[in-house]
Amino acid sequence: MIHGPNLALLGRREPELYGTRSLEDIDTALTALAEELGAGLEVFQSNHEGRILDWIAAVADRVDGFLVNPAALTHTSVALRDALLAVDRPFVEVHLSNPKAREPFRHHSFLADVATGVVFGFGSESYLLGLRGLYAHLRD
Ligand code: DQA
Repeated sequence: MIHGPNLALLGRREPELYGTRSLEDIDTALTALAEELGAGLEVFQSNHEGRILDWIAAVADRVDGFLVNPAALTHTSVALRDALLAVDRPFVEVHLSNPKAREPFRHHSFLADVATGVVFGFGSESYLLGLRGLYAHLRD
């Protein structure tokens, strides 16, 4: 699980858009779901694009896929797209909000067309739906 920039502020960050659950709450729910599915889960958050790219390269050989909320990097980062393509692992893109219903600069994702799937608009539930989707994809 990769959480991009500013997601550590969830809970206090624009709650009308992102809800009141903290990142820790979300990680706890994801960890419980992973256990239920019998999957392993490692979680990483960074506000720094380069650290995210380094983490992807560092863990790629020991993970089967990535769940990623790229946050603002969704709309800006060719480097994140290239990093995920470079390690050749399936990934699912998730968002709490519905970026398509927001400012025009959030309508484009540099990742969506190379993702296995994209889940957005369900608040913290998007993460759980995304994990279920990624797990089913890997299992099948
Ligand atoms: C977000 C949507 C992005 O546009 C924004 O930059 C975020 C959060 C979401 O989960 O809704 O930081 O990825």
